[in-house]
Amino acid sequence: MDKNNKNCSHQLLSGKRGIVFGALNEKSIAWKVAEKVVSEGAAITLSNAPIALRLGEINKLSETLNAPVIAADATSLEDLEQVFLKSQELLGGKIDFVLHSIGMSPNVRKGRKYDDLDYNFFEKTLNISALSFHKMLQSARKLDAIADGGSIVALTYIAAQKAFEGYNDMADAKALLESITRNFGLLYGQEKGVRINTISQSPTMTTAGSGIGGFDLFYDFADKMSPLGNASAEDCANYCVTLFSDYTKKVTMQNLYHDGGFSTTGMSAEAILQYQKSHLNK
Ligand SMILES: NC(=O)c1ccc[n+]([C@@H]2O[C@H](COP(=O)([O-])OP(=O)(O)OC[C@H]3O[C@@H](n4cnc5c(N)ncnc54)[C@H](O)[C@@H]3O)[C@@H](O)[C@H]2O)c1
Repeated sequence: MDKNNKNCSHQLLSGKRGIVFGALNEKSIAWKVAEKVVSEGAAITLSNAPIALRLGEINKLSETLNAPVIAADATSLEDLEQVFLKSQELLGGKIDFVLHSIGMSPNVRKGRKYDDLDYNFFEKTLNISALSFHKMLQSARKLDAIADGGSIVALTYIAAQKAFEGYNDMADAKALLESITRNFGLLYGQEKGVRINTISQSPTMTTAGSGIGGFDLFYDFADKMSPLGNASAEDCANYCVTLFSDYTKKVTMQNLYHDGGFSTTGMSAEAILQYQKSHLNK
C-alpha cells in the first residue's frame, strides 16, 4: 500500500464496484489504482492477460485487496465478455467504473524504427493498445454491464498530439485510443450517462514505460520541464479516484493531462540549465 496515501482515505468510492485491467507488478499504474480505489471503499475485480497471470505477481495484489482475478486477453471479445459477466456476478451488481491500463508494441520491443515497421506487429500494437478499448466498451454496453452514470478511464500519452521521437507506433495507438474515447463517449453518455475519458500521464517508471529507448533520460527531461515535476503512478491513482467518484459526473470525452504542467510548458530554466551543463562537458 502506498505509504503516502493509506491514512488519507475519504471513502469517495464507498459502495462502488469496479474492474481494473493491467496490473502486472508493483510498478504498474493499474496496481497503484487498484490499491487506491479499494482504500477509498470500492470492491473490485482485477484482469490481465493469461501470460501476465502466469508471472504470478497479480495474485499477491488479489489477496491483499480481496479482489478476484479474471484472466482475459484484451483483444478477445469473448474474454472481455466473461470479465464483465463474472465481475457482475462476483461483485453483486452492475459495474460503476473501469480502468483500461493496457499497452504494448511488438515493434518497440523488437527495436523496429518508425520508418521500418513490421506491419503485423503494427496491427498488434493497435489491437492491444487501442482497439481493446473499443472491444471493452462494446462488450460492456451489449451486456448492459455498466451502471447509469458509470465512469471509464483509459491511460494515454501526449505523443498522441505531438511527435515524440522513439515513442514509435504507440503514438498512433494512443491517437486512436483517444478518438475511441470521444466517439464512444458520445453514444454511452447520451444513452446511460456513462463518462469516458483518457488520462494523459507523465513518463512513469513501469515495465511498459521503460520499454521505450532512452526512457531514463527522457523521464529526467520531462521532470525538469514540468513545473510540478512528473506525476507518479500514485498521483495517477489519486486522479483516477476523482474521475471514478460522483464529483466528476459531467466530465466526459476528454483527454485530461496529468503531467505536472509538461503539456503547456515551452521551456523551463531548469531544463535549459541541464542542457547547458551537458553542453559545457562536451
Ligand atoms: N509508464 C509510462 O511512462 C506511461 C505514460 C503514459 C501512459 N502510460 C500508459 O499506462 C498504461 C499502463 O502501463 P504501465 O506504464 O503501468 O505499464 P505496465 O507494463 O505495468 O502495464 C501494461 C499492462 O498491459 C497489459 N497487457 C499487455 N498486453 C495485453 C493483452 N493482450 N491483454 C490484456 N492486457 C495486456 C500487461 O500485462 C500490463 O499489465 C498503458 O496504456 C501505457 O501506455 C504509461
